[in-house]
Amino acid sequence: MTTSETLRNTSKDTLRNVLTRLEKEGAALGHFNVSDQVLLKAVIAAATETKLPVLIGASEGEREFFGARQLAALVKSERQECDVPIFLNADHTHSLAKALEAAKAGFDAVTIDFSALPFEENVARTREAVQAIKAVNPVILAEGEIGDIGTGSEIKETAQGGKLSTPEEARQFVEATGIDNLAPAVGNMHGMLKSMVQGNAKKHLDLERIAQIKKAAGVFLTLHGGSGTDDEHFRKAIAAGINIIHINTELRVAWRESLDKSLARDTNEVVPYKILRPVVDSVKQVVSSRLRLFHGRPVSREVVGTVA
Ligand code: G3H
Ligand code: ZN
Repeated sequence: MTTSETLRNTSKDTLRNVLTRLEKEGAALGHFNVSDQVLLKAVIAAATETKLPVLIGASEGEREFFGARQLAALVKSERQECDVPIFLNADHTHSLAKALEAAKAGFDAVTIDFSALPFEENVARTREAVQAIKAVNPVILAEGEIGDIGTGSEIKETAQGGKLSTPEEARQFVEATGIDNLAPAVGNMHGMLKSMVQGNAKKHLDLERIAQIKKAAGVFLTLHGGSGTDDEHFRKAIAAGINIIHINTELRVAWRESLDKSLARDTNEVVPYKILRPVVDSVKQVVSSRLRLFHGRPVSREVVGTVA
């Protein structure tokens, strides 16, 4: 069996299997959000280029724009031609109805997000959603979120986020909800400050807390708000127990900057695929660099860091 055959999205390669294998290898699965086919093409091209598995994510807003069933159908079709495992996550899902919609559409995972509610309510609503999606398909991985890391993968003026998650909260939450993976607040934050986009500042994580939460929770851990995080902190966070890393704003920044450049290159150009091809390429470079980092491979400095 060749390496690419072992990585192929076979029925054995469930998301759980891939996460277990990566954990043993000291690596994490990259989760990249998509809003349209340009971003989707870029993420799949990066997975193909690096020969590394990816988790494609779409939040409720992104799913509304793309179409949840349409995205699932496209990913299913891409899977048949791709040599590496590609999975699909219904990111930041705030209702039972949307969780069920994604489960029925064929998503591999659902990020159930009631983290804005008081802890007990978060537990109750998450548990209900876990049971509902597992009844549709028990193989779907259910993620739950605790703590406050702010909202929106956007460029921000000021830092967001509140109290960090504790190991005891993590243990109680996992036990009471039956989730497969937990997304805690460990110094991470959704979005990027302007200084981060310029490459002048980085996010730093509470690495000790990650290790303690991993021990207490005993499940896969997801790091949200990955954009703009210090490379060394990513490496150490993976060693401390992070299994999935979400990146969105970095892709959006690369998308916007390359689209601006592409449009400015020739104001008479009206052929969409000529305008959009360089955009796919720019986003692909960001995704490939992050994937290499999450798998302990050398990273090209000119791509990640300035984000441009
Ligand atoms: O769920 C999506 C992410 O947590 C992305 O966060 O935009 O800071 O990379 P980010
Ligand atoms: Zn997130």
